[in-house]
Amino acid sequence: SAAEKGGYDYFMLKEIAEQPKAVADTLLGRIDVAGSLTLDEIRIPAEVLREATKVVIVACGTAFHAGLIAKYAIEHWTRIPCEVELASEFRYRDPILDERTLVIAISQSGETMDTLMAVRHAREQGARVLAICNTNGSTIPRESDAVLYTHAGPEVAVASTKAFLTQLVACYLVALYLGQVRGTQAGDEIRAVIRDLAEISTAVERVLETMEPVRELARSLAAKNTVLFLGRHVGYPVALEGALKLKELAYMHAEGFAAGELKHGPIALIDEDLPVVVVVPSPRGHSVLHDKIVSNIQEIRARGARTIVIAEEGDETVSPYADHLIRIPVTPALLQPLVATVPLQVFACELATARGNEVDQPRNLAKSVTVE
Ligand code: G6P
Repeated sequence: SAAEKGGYDYFMLKEIAEQPKAVADTLLGRIDVAGSLTLDEIRIPAEVLREATKVVIVACGTAFHAGLIAKYAIEHWTRIPCEVELASEFRYRDPILDERTLVIAISQSGETMDTLMAVRHAREQGARVLAICNTNGSTIPRESDAVLYTHAGPEVAVASTKAFLTQLVACYLVALYLGQVRGTQAGDEIRAVIRDLAEISTAVERVLETMEPVRELARSLAAKNTVLFLGRHVGYPVALEGALKLKELAYMHAEGFAAGELKHGPIALIDEDLPVVVVVPSPRGHSVLHDKIVSNIQEIRARGARTIVIAEEGDETVSPYADHLIRIPVTPALLQPLVATVPLQVFACELATARGNEVDQPRNLAKSVTVE
């Protein structure tokens, strides 16, 4: 009913709007007054976390994209090698796991069969499993050694939005916590990022306030067949997520690429008027990658494509090459996905509406896939 949707036309719009609160709720009570993380919920003993030699993340769909982003954070802040794998591939690959492997299973519903099978397989091999989940008492947390709940509240729309942002928050918390427990070199940076996380909810709110031009742009592209998404570093999984959202909701051909791979193939796809969305890394956090991606934007534009650029406030170097410029607040480099994903959600939702698609219940998709 309209009341359930809180006055919005679709649950997806309501859930996009709820993201600042979802992010704040997921942080609530997990940072103490001294600025340290208190994640007692992770009942895996600190010694076990200190001795872990490898982290393996398993998930499906949008949750898998959260896992891809987590890898950058975990390896950077903890120096523990981290692999990320689609749960459906992991299970049947005969992966190498032992008692010193920490497996993180990410699932909004906690009922995805592929992810559950990956969890069971990991535990049979003696690995410890930590679930990141949005649904209290669901199967994946029940079958895991520990769980860190995301507090997004119920997500109804099939295409995941607020659950994704809170999965990211939970992944950052786990990465920072592992860093804190293991006392890595990155101690000062970890303390600074914990402080910065407290500002993220406000940053997401600011993004949401500036989305009207994104909706207009989406409507203007309703007759297109293809959209490409490019990103680097943590912006690469953001590009994958932007493309997935467009497939799910607008039924358009959309692909995400690592911008560095452009020259190894995808550039052949660039055509007059093809919309290409580029997620630009922070110029302070990653000046080298930033400059490389600005060159990519120039290359794409030189071939006549329509460039849609997502860049930090104050980053002027991109302006001359952007047909459409979407601004996001300045954040620490690793946290950028929390703000960069939001315009892509709005973009896909508006394109779906403009193409007359059912936003909350896309064809052929289920909210939770409980078959293998
Ligand atoms: C389905 C949904 C996706 C979701 C995926 C994983 O395919 O349509 O939106 O990302 O399942 O779901 P989970 O509940 O495990 O996060």
